[in-house]
Amino acid sequence: MTLNYYCIDAGSQYCPCHLAKTDNCLICSMLQGKDTCDCRWQGICVYQEYIWAGGKIEERKLLSVPVIEKNFVTDKLVTIKIFIPSASLVRDYNQPGAFAFLRPENSLEYYDVPLCVMDVDESKKIINFAVNIVGPKSKAIARSENKVLIRGPYWNGLFGLKHIKSSYNKHWLIIGRGIGQASIIPVVKNLLRGNNKITVLLDCGNIKVNLAEDELKKLGITPQEFDLNTTFHKMRLREIIEKDGVDFVYSGGSDVQHKFIQNVLNKLSFSIPLIISNNHQLCCGEGVCGSCETLIDGELIHFCKIQLRSEQVLGG
Ligand code: FES
Repeated sequence: MTLNYYCIDAGSQYCPCHLAKTDNCLICSMLQGKDTCDCRWQGICVYQEYIWAGGKIEERKLLSVPVIEKNFVTDKLVTIKIFIPSASLVRDYNQPGAFAFLRPENSLEYYDVPLCVMDVDESKKIINFAVNIVGPKSKAIARSENKVLIRGPYWNGLFGLKHIKSSYNKHWLIIGRGIGQASIIPVVKNLLRGNNKITVLLDCGNIKVNLAEDELKKLGITPQEFDLNTTFHKMRLREIIEKDGVDFVYSGGSDVQHKFIQNVLNKLSFSIPLIISNNHQLCCGEGVCGSCETLIDGELIHFCKIQLRSEQVLGG
């Protein structure tokens, strides 16, 4: 079976990319070194764009930006607000699934930490990130005082973006657990613009705090506290999905959580699309380093760039 996927960057200002230059484009057969056109048509011709650009590619910028607020929520969790001077760049970050690589100023590239955008204030040009402090990279970024280096924006932080962007007047069940809660605010904000009904379940998980709660309340949503490890709440989750007329489910959390929700959905007599956060190891974000590659149905998938259905990602 040929996988039906698309590249998140195709058609954006960052297409064509390094993969086109090295005959590794994920979409265009001509830019894979073949002689014939047999592309995954996404509404644009990447080959034509490449020729028109004279083989040039637009790089994502590495910026040194001020940290304007840092808040240790717990000893293992810090939120960092940064200021980005460009309004258009801030707008590019204001998307569900957006993420960036951050590292302390004066540190080497391998200190880059991929962090999903937790919230964006476009009017003040401020972007908020949450960092779960676990290892050398996250400890280093948590210690950053005045400035950080940011590279981005990248957009493949979740799978199923097209459902979020095209949803209107639907009922969404949003489940955020642990640091996975950091991904849900941009999703909720986008869905609110489409007049969708939103039910949010928050499980604090390992971080021991419901990171998204305050912002959700500001948006007029009262989240329900959940503990997905308890039988009671697992049953309650099934009940909400089966009886509350849910049209879509977004899961922001671990793959274990995604799979549990997928199993619940698989048992229904009707189908509900599951949209999930991207938990793959991301290193370059450009499809170049290979750290996010996984073989699916005989095809090498770069999860930093490829949008697939959740069941293909989870293998269910
Ligand atoms: S993160 Fe480097 S190839 Fe995907």
